[in-house]
Amino acid sequence: MDRRNFLRLSAAVASYGLTNIHAISHAQEQVAADDLVYWKTIIDQYDVTDQYINLEAGYYGIMAKTVMNAFMKHNQYVNQNSSYYAREHYYDDYAKIIERLATKLNVGSDELVLTRNATEALQNLIVGYNKLNAGDSVIYADADYDSMQSEMRYLNTFRGVDVVGINIPEPAAYQSILDAYQKALDDNPKCKLLLLTHVSNRSGIIVPAKEIISMAKERGVDVILDAAHSFGQFDFDFNDLGADFVGFNLHKWIGAPLGVGMMYVSKDRISDIDVFHGDETGNTDINARAHTGTMNFATVLTVNDALDFHESIGIRNIGARLRYLRNVWVDAVINNDKIEVLTPQDERMYAGITSFRIKGKTSMEDNRELAKILFDKYKIFTAAKTGLNNGSYIRVTPGLYNSRDDVAALGNALNEITS
Ligand SMILES: Cc1ncc(COP(=O)(O)O)c(C=O)c1O
Repeated sequence: MDRRNFLRLSAAVASYGLTNIHAISHAQEQVAADDLVYWKTIIDQYDVTDQYINLEAGYYGIMAKTVMNAFMKHNQYVNQNSSYYAREHYYDDYAKIIERLATKLNVGSDELVLTRNATEALQNLIVGYNKLNAGDSVIYADADYDSMQSEMRYLNTFRGVDVVGINIPEPAAYQSILDAYQKALDDNPKCKLLLLTHVSNRSGIIVPAKEIISMAKERGVDVILDAAHSFGQFDFDFNDLGADFVGFNLHKWIGAPLGVGMMYVSKDRISDIDVFHGDETGNTDINARAHTGTMNFATVLTVNDALDFHESIGIRNIGARLRYLRNVWVDAVINNDKIEVLTPQDERMYAGITSFRIKGKTSMEDNRELAKILFDKYKIFTAAKTGLNNGSYIRVTPGLYNSRDDVAALGNALNEITS
C-alpha cells in the first residue's frame, strides 16, 4: 500500500470507527471491489496468520471471527446440553436452516438435505443414480474433482456402463468448452449421465453450466452438477441452471465450519436416486438419499452465522471482490510470455480461482518446486496441483481476508522469478 492510500485508509477507519461487521451493514448495496476502506473492514473480520500470505482459500474457507465465535458458543451449548439439545431442539434448528438455504436457492425445503461435505452428496448422487443400464455410457471430464472422477469410473463395475473421460481444451474458451461437451454427447449417443463441475477446482474455470445442462437434457442425458466451488463464490441464479442433481458444500465459500455440505435433488427426480443402503425413510424423501448418522450439531448450527456474515456483505460484492483480487495478480503476469494462465480472460468464466504454470514446466516436481520458492522466498502459499491433461500447475485462490497487496505480491514474485 502506498503512503497516500495508507493515510487515507487510517483517517477513514478512524472516522468511521469501524470495528465490527454491524457497522458496515450498508454493504448489501454495491461496494467497489477496490474500495480500500470497506474491504479493510472485512479483512479485519478475519484472524489469519501474518507469517505468510495465504492464497489457497480453495481448500476450505477460513471462518470470519464472528462465525468462529458463534461456532465456539454453539459447541459449548451443545456440549452442555448434549442429548437434551439433540432430542428436543436439533431437528427444529436443522429444519430452519434447510428452510433458509432453500429460500436462498429458491427451491423447496423437501429438495435439500445436509451432508458432511460435497463429496458425500456427490458420491451418493453418482452411485445412487438408478436410471443406468448395462451398455449405457456416462461422461466426465479431466477438470472434475478426483474422487468424483473415480466415482464415475466405479459405475463401470457397479452398473456395467461404459465410462468416457473427456479433456477440457487448453487454452479453454467459452465456445470451445461448449464444443467439447457437444462433441462428447454426439460421439456417445448411449450416454445417460454427465458429471459437470460448475467451477473446476483445478483450473478455476466456470463452465457454461446452463447451456451444457440444456444440451444434455435435449439428448435425454441427466447431469449431476458439482457446485462445491460455485455456491457462495459468485452470483448465479441456481434455478436458471436447470440442474436436477447437485452437490454443494458450505465450508468453502459460505464460510461455515468444516464438515457441512448439501445435496439437492429436484422434487420430481428424487426416486431416480436410490435410497442410501436401504434407508427406510421413504422412497420420495430426499433425507433417505443421505444417511449421515449423527452430524456435528455445532457445525450445522453455525451455518446460520456463516450465512449472516456472507449476506451482510452480499454475494455480488463477494463475487466482484474475488474477481478483482484475481485480476490484480493476473493482470501483472498476463503479458509475461513465460507464464501460461490457464483460466481464460473471459469474465463469464472465472471468479476468484485461477491457475497458471511456467511454460514448459508441466511436471508435478516443477510445480512443487515453484510453490516452494513462492513460499520460502516470498512467503506466499499456493497449491501445486496435478490432474489436467496438459500437465501440472499452480492454483491460486484469494479469500476475502486477502488485501490487494497480498495478490500484487504474487504478481511481482512471478515476474521476478521468470525474469
Ligand atoms: C470441485 C470440487 N468438488 C468436490 C469437492 C469435495 O468437497 P468436500 O471437501 O466438501 O468434500 C471439492 C473439494 O475441494 C471440489 O473442489
